[in-house]
Amino acid sequence: MSVIDFDLSAPEFWARPMAEREEAFRRLRELDKPAFFEEMEISFAPKGPGYHALVRHADILEASRNPELFCSGDGGATNIPDMPAEFAEYFGSMINMDDPRHARLRRIVSRAFTPRMIKQFEADVEAAAARIVDDLIARGPGCDFVTEVAARLPLKIICDMMGIPPGDYRFVFERSNRILGGFDPEYTDLDNVATQLLTAGHELQQLVQELAAHRAEHPTDDLTSALVNANIDGERLTMQELGSFFILLVVAGNETTRNAISYGLRLLTKNPDQRALLLEDLPGRLPGAVEEIVRLASPVNFMRRKVTRDCEMNGNAYRKGEKVVLYYWSANRDERVFDDPLRFDITRDPNPHVGFGGPGPHFCLGAHLARREITLMFRELLTRLPHIEGGRPDRLHSHFINGIKHMECTF
Ligand code: HEM
Repeated sequence: MSVIDFDLSAPEFWARPMAEREEAFRRLRELDKPAFFEEMEISFAPKGPGYHALVRHADILEASRNPELFCSGDGGATNIPDMPAEFAEYFGSMINMDDPRHARLRRIVSRAFTPRMIKQFEADVEAAAARIVDDLIARGPGCDFVTEVAARLPLKIICDMMGIPPGDYRFVFERSNRILGGFDPEYTDLDNVATQLLTAGHELQQLVQELAAHRAEHPTDDLTSALVNANIDGERLTMQELGSFFILLVVAGNETTRNAISYGLRLLTKNPDQRALLLEDLPGRLPGAVEEIVRLASPVNFMRRKVTRDCEMNGNAYRKGEKVVLYYWSANRDERVFDDPLRFDITRDPNPHVGFGGPGPHFCLGAHLARREITLMFRELLTRLPHIEGGRPDRLHSHFINGIKHMECTF
C-alpha cells in the first residue's frame, strides 16, 4: 500500500524535479480509490471543501463523458477553488459552463475550427513556421527556443484568426502569460494575484471589443467579423461573450501548443533513437510523434469537475457538491493503458492519450489546429535543422500548466 506523504495542493510539490512528480502520481494510481486533498488557501476566495484526485485513465474517461454528473460550471473547470463571481466576466467562457449555455456557445464558435476551416489556414501556418525557422537560423544557436520559436507560431495563428494586428501580438502574449503564470514570480505578482488576473482579463477584453466594434461596421474574413455579425443561423455572441471567448482562445491556444512544441524538442533531444526513426520517414511518422509528444507533455495538467448528485463511478462513491480533479498528465502515464508509459515511442499505436481532454462536450476545440501547428513546426524544423537540440528546460512553476519558460537550443 502506498503512503501518500505529499500534498498536491502545496505549490512546492509542483516545483520538485519531474522524476519525483512521476513517482508521486504512480503511487496515487496504485491506490484503491482516489486520494482526497485539502484545498490550498488563496487570498481571493474562501477555502473550498477539498477534492478527489482522479489519476487513472478510466476515471478521466468516465468523468469526461458524464457531464450531467461531473459538471464544469458551478465554480469552474479551470480552477480548483470556486471562481469568485467577478472573475466570470472575463474567465467564464464555455470551458467553465454546462449545457445548454455551453452547447450554444460551442455551436456558434465551432464552425471556425472544423478540419475544413483549418485546412484554409494550412498555407498560413506553413509560411509562419518557415519564417520562424528563417529567423532562428539568422540568429544562430544559443537562443531561447521557447520565445524565439515555440511561442511565436500559436500566438501568430490565433491573433491572425481573430484579426489582431501584429503590433498587438506582444500585448496579447504578455497578458496570456500573466493569466496562466501559476506560482511563478517571473509572470505572477504573488501578492496581487486577483488584481493581476482581472487587469489582464480586462485589457484583453477591451482589445477584442474595440476590434469587434470596428468589424461590426467593416467586416473582413476574420473570426471576429464572423462572431459579431449574425451568421447563417442568426446566432451571434454578446460583447461580453465575445470578450471571454477571446480570452479563453488566446490562453488555451497559446500556453498549450507552445509547451507541446518545447517539450517535443526536449523529447527528441533526450531520445536520439526516436529522432533517427522520425528522420527516416518524416511525413509518415510525424503524426504519431505529435500524439506521443502531446501524451508525454500533457500541457494542461488537469481540469476540475463538480459532482451534481450522489453517484458511483468505477466502484467509488461520490457525493453531491464534491469536487474531482482530472489529472490528464497522470492518466497519460497510466500503466493499465500504456505499455512502458514513460518511454517516448513515436510509433505507439494505439495511443489513446487524454492530452486534449477526455471524450465529452468539452473536448479541446483547438485540437485539430494544435496538431497542425505542432506538425508543421516540426516538419519545418527537422527538414532544415535535423539535429537541433533543446537544453535543460527552465520549467514554469504551476500546478495547472506543464510549461517551459525558457530553453536554450543548439544546432
Ligand atoms: C497542445 C495543445 C492543446 C492542448 C494540450 C489542449 C488541451 C485542452 C484540454 C485538456 C481541454 C479541456 C477539456 C475538458 O474540459 O474536458 C481543452 C479545451 C479547450 N481548448 Fe484546448 N488544448 C490545446 C490547444 C488548443 C488550441 C490551439 C485552441 C484554440 C485555438 C484551444 C482551445 C480550446 C477551447 C476553446 C477549449 C474549451 C472547449 C469547451 O469547453 O467546449 N486549445 N483544451
